[in-house]
Amino acid sequence: MNPHLARRRLLITKPLIFIACLLPLVWLCGLAWQGQLGANPVETLSHRTGDWSLRFLLLTLTITPARRLTGWNRLQQFRRMLGLFAFFYVGLHFAIYLVFDQFFDWPAIVADVVKRPYLTVGFAAFLLLIPLAITSTYRMMKRLGRNWQRLHRLVYPIAVLGVLHYAWQVKADLSGPLLYGGVLAMLLGYRLWGRGLGFQRR
Ligand code: HEM
Repeated sequence: MNPHLARRRLLITKPLIFIACLLPLVWLCGLAWQGQLGANPVETLSHRTGDWSLRFLLLTLTITPARRLTGWNRLQQFRRMLGLFAFFYVGLHFAIYLVFDQFFDWPAIVADVVKRPYLTVGFAAFLLLIPLAITSTYRMMKRLGRNWQRLHRLVYPIAVLGVLHYAWQVKADLSGPLLYGGVLAMLLGYRLWGRGLGFQRR
């Protein structure tokens, strides 16, 4: 494609995708505004932001396999944005817990995170995401060179921790964690299979 046209298309699609990524937040704000968050609004907010954190994480991991399978290389240009939105929704998810659940009671938070394994793994995933978000700029990518790729491979264990965090707290119906776990297993499987075929070297 003509590079000029490609750049113009990108100028339109990037903001559109950015707006689409904000829609879950807009939808949640709308529900809150109309008082439709159910009997336990904090729980609803916590669950929905948790869901979107995991969805964005998995969506970010889908980009590379989708690009390879379709040959549509431009998909790669959206990976960073999706990854940052995953971090944004995890940040919101944590902020809801911090402000509405624990009211900034840091000793209680530490005790809770240590005592409840599902929170321990969720918190670990959140902490691991921070260096990835910090180093997501093009400047950091250049500065870190090959180490950047090594560091950003952390997104796989982070997604595993995210699914574990979800599975660990579910009381009866495991269908949600199984669905996300299944998608993640396929993405991990594809990556390992790709390694065998030498995608890395290429
Ligand atoms: C990468 C990091 C994380 C991901 C992907 C994630 C994802 C999720 C998901 C998918 C849910 C369940 C939503 C549902 O039931 O539909 C959830 C619930 C929850 N998460 Fe997270 N989470 C993460 C980090 C954290 C952190 C750092 C905290 C707080 C320290 C936290 C606290 C909670 C709480 C309190 C719930 C609700 C549990 C309940 O009501 O029983 N999460 N999270």
